[in-house]
Amino acid sequence: MSKRNLNLIFLGPPGAGKGTQAKMIVDKYSIPQLSTGDLMRAAVSSGSSIGDEVKGYMASGALVPDALVVDILLDRLSGDDCRDGFILDGFPRTVAQAESLEKALVSRGMPLSGVVAMIVPDEALLGRLTARRICRGCSASYHLEFLKPKVDGVCDRCQGELYQRKDDSEEVILNRLKVYHDQTSPLIDFYQKQKKLYTVDGNNKIEMIFSEICDIIDSLN
Ligand code: AP5
Ligand code: MG
Repeated sequence: MSKRNLNLIFLGPPGAGKGTQAKMIVDKYSIPQLSTGDLMRAAVSSGSSIGDEVKGYMASGALVPDALVVDILLDRLSGDDCRDGFILDGFPRTVAQAESLEKALVSRGMPLSGVVAMIVPDEALLGRLTARRICRGCSASYHLEFLKPKVDGVCDRCQGELYQRKDDSEEVILNRLKVYHDQTSPLIDFYQKQKKLYTVDGNNKIEMIFSEICDIIDSLN
């Protein structure tokens, strides 16, 4: 029997572990991770006009306007590497984005397989994000306590330099959490109604969460 494409969404608050788990799923299932945060950080670093437009929103922890982020994501989704499946990490983040995505996926014949929602209490998220370090090369996430790189300041995967994201200051994190609760958490209900939602306890050990997500993915195939 042939396997279906894996068209996945990872949903969760800032620091829930979307990026950490997505990287592990990419390695195991060979489908690309499409992170709208990473795509926009790359635009900011390149100094493009889109980068200039999104910079201020990201620095304050606000959402980038729907029209802009939908265009960026749908363009990326047209890549040949997305034909056999993809993980959307950090998209959609509003009901309007979810509706635009749904229309695009239907018209492209790419039905959504499932939405994995990672549930983590706010108290745990602040400590995760203030001690996070990110790789400049491959955007892998590390944590100074929970997921230390083998060599300080150097990525285990690609030997890139590790840095702290500008929006990982306490003030901006608190705003990102508020934005999540106000604008993104309604998507849990949205996908529950579509019977596409699978929740995992994101307040567990990284390997346990990974194994739970793999079980969900294998149940979809
Ligand atoms: P984005 O880059 O997507 O940031 P985010 O959603 O705030 O999520 P994070 O990347 O901070 O967290 P994560 O869930 O990936 O956690 P991670 O695995 O790194 O977006 C940034 C900005 O871009 C937004 O604020 C907005 O301005 C804009 N934007 C992006 N998408 C948009 C959209 N669709 N619409 C509009 N605007 C958009 O893990 C976090 C830390 O915890 C790490 O240190 C990790 O090592 C550690 N960790 C992970 N799992 C565990 C665990 N189980 N136990 C202990 N520690 C753990
Ligand atoms: Mg991330």
